[in-house]
Amino acid sequence: MGKLALAAKVTHVPSMYLSELPGKHHGCRQAAIDGHKEISRRCRELGVDTIVVFDTHWLVNSAYHINCNDHFQGVYTSHELPHFIRDMEYEYDGNPVLGNLIAEEAISSGVRAQAHAISTLTLEYGTLVPMRYMNSDRHFKVVSISAFCTVHDFADSRRMGEAVRRAIEKYDGTVAVLASGSLSHRFIDDQRAEQGMNAWTREFDEQMDHRVVKLWREGKFAEFCRMLPEYADYCYGEGNMHDTVMLLGLMGWDQYQGKVEFITDLFPSSGTGQVNAVFPLARTA
Ligand SMILES: [Fe+2]
Repeated sequence: MGKLALAAKVTHVPSMYLSELPGKHHGCRQAAIDGHKEISRRCRELGVDTIVVFDTHWLVNSAYHINCNDHFQGVYTSHELPHFIRDMEYEYDGNPVLGNLIAEEAISSGVRAQAHAISTLTLEYGTLVPMRYMNSDRHFKVVSISAFCTVHDFADSRRMGEAVRRAIEKYDGTVAVLASGSLSHRFIDDQRAEQGMNAWTREFDEQMDHRVVKLWREGKFAEFCRMLPEYADYCYGEGNMHDTVMLLGLMGWDQYQGKVEFITDLFPSSGTGQVNAVFPLARTA
């Protein structure tokens, strides 16, 4: 019987890549990079063999999709922010067995999920950025799931998260799950891009993100689940926060009472709110 060993909400801001390079932004995201490395260290210690990523940069206009390729290799440049991420080399192994199990479980609960083995179906940077800092030695296999869901119900994304949990229990191995996306996500106005590198765009979003961090720290997920649709709406949730919905589906939704541990404290990036936060296991009402 398989095991869920670690669950987390993580940042993937492209300025992490910029932070590595010489220049005025060198080191600007070191705390976020260190957070990813700490999550990687914990995963290794826990014997994790595969990381599942809910990727808010995989935009889908119909159904839920699971990348079940057995290998990923390429050189990535972001079309959205080519001045932030360019020519990033990557190579990871996939896990078609777990990916297909997830699809079967999701379909059995009525979710329109599809598993794909298409060699030209590559990874988006919601997966590539965390993997760069957690998995550069290809220690973990990777399963990426679409979480930029444009026309999807939260009820289905919650079921998707529940399906991932059941699939992990049927899988012969140890798994970590990452919800890769921001808290608030009102990108900075273009003419203010430089000032916005380390600031929120709107005071409202900053205040809301701090409130959400407090709720998560206190394990108040009944309250958070009630406000999640409005939070995603008013604060421009990345991928409409479907990654967070899936993560909470995995953890028990409003019954979950884990006191979230912030490995990287809330920080602003290009107008948005970001964290690396581990959700403790087995804390439900
Ligand atoms: Fe993003």
